[in-house]
Amino acid sequence: MEFIEQLKSSVDIVQVIGDYVQLRRVGGGPRYMGLCPFHGEKTASFSVHSQHQFYKCFGCDAHGDVLTFVMEMERFTFWEAVKYLAEKHGIPLPKRSEHSDEETRHRAALHEMHDIAARIFRETLMGPAGAEARQYLTRRGVKPEVAETFGLGISDRSGTQLVRIFQRKGFSEADMEATGLVLKRQDGSGFFDRFRGRLMFPIHSESGQVIAFGGRAMAAGDEPKYLNSSETPIYRKSHVLYNLNRARKAMQQQGFTVLVEGYMDVIGVAAAGIDNVVATCGTALTAFQVRAMRRHAPAVVLNFDPDEAGMKAAERSSQTLLEEGVRLKVLELSGGLDPDEFIQNNGVEAYQAALNRAPGFFLWLAGRARERFDLKTPEGRTGAFQFLLPVIHRLPDKVERLAVAEDMADTLSIPKGMVLDEFKRAATERKSTRRVDPASTVDPQEWILVKSLLTNSEIRKEVGPILEQMDLSALLKTGRIVETILKMSAGGEAPVFATVNARLGDADRTMFSCLLQQKEEEIVRDEPSMEQAIQFAKTLASVQAKSQRDSLKRLIREAERAGDLKQAMELNVKLRGLDKRG
Ligand code: UTP
Ligand code: MN
Repeated sequence: MEFIEQLKSSVDIVQVIGDYVQLRRVGGGPRYMGLCPFHGEKTASFSVHSQHQFYKCFGCDAHGDVLTFVMEMERFTFWEAVKYLAEKHGIPLPKRSEHSDEETRHRAALHEMHDIAARIFRETLMGPAGAEARQYLTRRGVKPEVAETFGLGISDRSGTQLVRIFQRKGFSEADMEATGLVLKRQDGSGFFDRFRGRLMFPIHSESGQVIAFGGRAMAAGDEPKYLNSSETPIYRKSHVLYNLNRARKAMQQQGFTVLVEGYMDVIGVAAAGIDNVVATCGTALTAFQVRAMRRHAPAVVLNFDPDEAGMKAAERSSQTLLEEGVRLKVLELSGGLDPDEFIQNNGVEAYQAALNRAPGFFLWLAGRARERFDLKTPEGRTGAFQFLLPVIHRLPDKVERLAVAEDMADTLSIPKGMVLDEFKRAATERKSTRRVDPASTVDPQEWILVKSLLTNSEIRKEVGPILEQMDLSALLKTGRIVETILKMSAGGEAPVFATVNARLGDADRTMFSCLLQQKEEEIVRDEPSMEQAIQFAKTLASVQAKSQRDSLKRLIREAERAGDLKQAMELNVKLRGLDKRG
């Protein structure tokens, strides 16, 4: 552990977190503030203390040190976080700490195989087998140094290139299969490469590790056009943005992100010297991805393809972006060209000029309304306003909503009174269809249990063994959260918000943060007591016993009805066993 302390004291937490969150110093003191990366928020409540080297969010209570931060952010295991920080800061790592648990070992194998694949793909592109692909890149205006920056490569046609290398290096079948880079043959006779004869785009984590690939077909008619990695323990599509690792610094400097649709667009725009550009990896934009952008810069310029599919995607993405409070602009390029083609045809300056001129989202949308409706007639104006309203209503901020609506009414010459009427109506509708907050459905008792397990090691010691006997996921809304806390505790790891949160799935994470945020003041003013926790655990045990008894009784009745007396007797014995235990 001495090494861990040494590591923590030689790493500057403000610098590490500053790579992920735009931080502002508070009044020249040791504190910095920014948008919390662990829950969605629009005003900064995430604080980093440079002297005491910890962070804390006043919104969701996420807190910890530099290690828990990287664990949470990158979903690293403890040892991965240690390794990452040590390597980044040139601190030699004690040898034995490498793969100290199975999860770390497995994930390290996946990372290693991805690194190997990326290198092999690059080498193949450079070698004799890559001639055709190199021509293809030249034809598309991708210079060799740009291909190198983005680590572009090509996968071998044979379908056995990676398999052979992985086998020679002695990776286990389970590890190989988990990468998704090779697939098992249906008849079970070994593996073959998933990507064959494709132009390969490595996809990086925010910290720059290769975690997946996109593979583009090079012959016309070869389907699908892009083949993407599936999800693996090191790749969650809905969280990752292509090029974020290279773009984030420029995003912080420029104060905005250019969001495009495709890998080739990112490369074209970045090659033109506009580094703050990212894309999703072939999926619809998610709130997680928007928050990742917002951590670095408050504004986004949406620059999607001008075709039907691009427009649809832009509409969907703009909803998510607005809901997350992004300052949004839209860049619609002339001539029906996507960003990459536009730059190839018209040059960097033309693109830069178009970027600078990009109108705010609502102005752009009003333009669309103008094309659709005849604003010379009152009906046309009302129609246009109705078209805009649902989008305006998606703005999270009430004041801004009204301001934008009035602005739009002005643009379309619509009477103010009508705007206010529409708003009143929408407000009543919103009330009746308000979304249910996951935390509000959690029983307060249950929350007391979670909170006490999280904060009190004595309670964990007493109540843990009782709970471990039960099917917690079936009994509790917070079942998986409780299981995670107990598992960590059993493994000798202190469960704190950040480390527990890092191990949860998306739905549970949302619930966990909401719980911490809301229930805190509502219900639990005092620390929960040992008695309360034990009492609740006992209640749970009896609920579980009752439901087991009920289902046994039902099975017995079914067995009797089916005339299977032997089965019925056996079940009866079980039932009596349960009754005896209590
Ligand atoms: P595009 O078809 O616009 O491709 O898809 P592109 O990036 O402009 O590529 P080029 O210029 O035709 O070579 C945009 C993005 O949608 C995803 C990819 O992420 C792609 O970059 N996509 C597209 C897929 O995932 N699968 C597909 O079959 C097609
Ligand atoms: Mn394109």
